[in-house]
Amino acid sequence: MSATINTVIIGTGSYIPENIITGDEFLNSTFFENGNRLEKENSEIIHKFSEITEIVERRYVCHDQLSNQIGAKAAEKAIQNAGIDKETLDYIIFCHNFGDVPLNSNRIDILPSLASKVKQQLGISNPDCVAYDIIFGCPGWVQGSIQADYYIKSGDAKRVLVIGAETLSRIIDPHDRDSMIFSDGAGAVIYEGIKQVGEQDGILAHKTETHALQHGGLLTMGKGAHPEETNGNYYLKMNGRKLYEFAVIQVPQVIKKAVDKAGLNIEDVNIVFVHQANGKMDAAIMKRLFKLYGLDNVPENLVPMTISWLGNSSVATIPTLLDLVLKEQVEGYKVRKGDVAVFASVGAGMHINAFVYRF
Ligand SMILES: CC(C)(COP(=O)(O)OP(=O)(O)OC[C@H]1O[C@@H](n2cnc3c(N)ncnc32)[C@H](O)[C@@H]1OP(=O)(O)O)[C@@H](O)C(=O)NCCC(=O)NCCS
Repeated sequence: MSATINTVIIGTGSYIPENIITGDEFLNSTFFENGNRLEKENSEIIHKFSEITEIVERRYVCHDQLSNQIGAKAAEKAIQNAGIDKETLDYIIFCHNFGDVPLNSNRIDILPSLASKVKQQLGISNPDCVAYDIIFGCPGWVQGSIQADYYIKSGDAKRVLVIGAETLSRIIDPHDRDSMIFSDGAGAVIYEGIKQVGEQDGILAHKTETHALQHGGLLTMGKGAHPEETNGNYYLKMNGRKLYEFAVIQVPQVIKKAVDKAGLNIEDVNIVFVHQANGKMDAAIMKRLFKLYGLDNVPENLVPMTISWLGNSSVATIPTLLDLVLKEQVEGYKVRKGDVAVFASVGAGMHINAFVYRF
């Protein structure tokens, strides 16, 4: 039997911003919809928000921090965790959507790439370590991992660092109540190619879809909700209800396609790392996924959740969650050798992706 190259995780790291933003931080906000000030009391809006999303708190970076810097912090931890020489990295893939946005600027800085900035901060001199960014909505980090798998399985790369980092607090509309979903954060994972004979660990299969024609407008940049705002800024905007409906129908199907490609059944899966934008939405996605297999119940302790205290940090969500679970910081969750995981995400594009992984 000949050996195959498999893509395995050898190190993880995350950076969780220290500023805890509770609902109370929005008590003095002025929220608008369709040009009109919302009539409900802010306390009621905040309470309703937590009820429909399960988000109680989120994290924002400090005023002087940028996405590339928090990405570098997570990357440093991942390198340390892997115990490797940083000069041996073949690629640094930085997944984000808004680049660096300095406080109060509403300007996106992506030159040079955030991956190049990280490479510089890490002090890596090897020119063969190629650093670039990908913009793929919230599923960016999952897609970066899929690219890493292609590079590694081709035999061209041995080690790939994939970072997901975002400072959404810099690009959200303070007058839009949906902005309370979003958060800041950074996560990083190092993948390595290992040769195995007869068994297969690491990334087993993956599936990605882009639904742009009908659904490309669900998550875009747009004008602020305040009718008198004239600063020309653009903010992150979503059609929440339509997005919810899209995700609940499409995500389970893509997960099933990835699990099918791996030649497995949903009952073989021990843990699901799913993008966290709304706790109720994730529960509905899982319920529908199991329905696709004719099963009525989703097993307990299958889906670790951080949404209540971390909110939706976009590309940072899944690598941060993975780091926390591997370091046993999510109560009730522990990964054992041989466990099968699904990683799945959905976001602006609209893109959906999933990969199946054996630890
Ligand atoms: C945005 C979202 C929270 C809105 O929730 P929803 O249940 O679809 O909201 P609806 O428009 O049906 O309104 C239901 C109620 O919630 C209220 N509501 C809607 N959005 C709200 C918000 N952001 N904050 C507080 N209350 C809100 C409405 O006023 C309505 O209240 P009422 O029952 O008293 O009249 C939800 O659709 C969502 O999370 N969508 C997915 C978002 C997502 O995945 N985004 C990121 C992708 S990467």
